[in-house]
Amino acid sequence: MNWADVESGFRTRGWTVFRTGCTDLWIAEVIAAKIGRAHDGVFEKAIDVVSFDPGRSLVTRSIASSSSAMSPHTDGSFEPFPPTDLLFQCIEADESPHGLSTIVTLSSIIQVMSAPHLRALSEPNFFFNRDESGRTSEVRASVISASGGVRYRSDPKYRICCDEPCGQEALAELERILQAGSLEERIVLEVGDIMWLNNTSVLHGRTALSGRSSRVIRRLRLYAPDPLPPEH
Ligand SMILES: [Fe+2]
Repeated sequence: MNWADVESGFRTRGWTVFRTGCTDLWIAEVIAAKIGRAHDGVFEKAIDVVSFDPGRSLVTRSIASSSSAMSPHTDGSFEPFPPTDLLFQCIEADESPHGLSTIVTLSSIIQVMSAPHLRALSEPNFFFNRDESGRTSEVRASVISASGGVRYRSDPKYRICCDEPCGQEALAELERILQAGSLEERIVLEVGDIMWLNNTSVLHGRTALSGRSSRVIRRLRLYAPDPLPPEH
């Protein structure tokens, strides 16, 4: 596979999948280094693992570590500077057809939302909050920025609040659109696949797990000064 073609496809769609067949960390590190060079070599990365264990599913508080579906979101919504790129390396997959990755692009959202609501979402009137173990973090920002970025996550641990009625209405419409699922693309990640996402132009999620098998995803969050600009 030619890297220029991969990068061009990524810039057009906001995501791509490498079918490597290998679960070693070094493969993900090589791809991360390539992405770093595409971003002029300036980026930081954070590596962790998201796993579901059928034996521990009843005691977890995190949706990511439960068998529940994860609605579309961007990572780091409560951070002042969320990661620009994400890599998800599939280490163990759930039983087919459970645990499919889902993608919603910002461009598809823009096509179906009303202009007044898009305008309201672009105002920096939203508070993004994470509440975990008694500690809360919060930033104030727009949901859809003028430069084309998106920041969104709404579930029991992550909340978005807005004091403006038009902002609340716009948020409710966005929530309805995402819950309806009609903009979702579904992607099967096999063991050894690595998905590369632009965290500023696509939302990602996951369908519900079977609850019978373990599932392990290695996640690399890349913090670059600027996302790669889309190709038109
Ligand atoms: Fe996520």
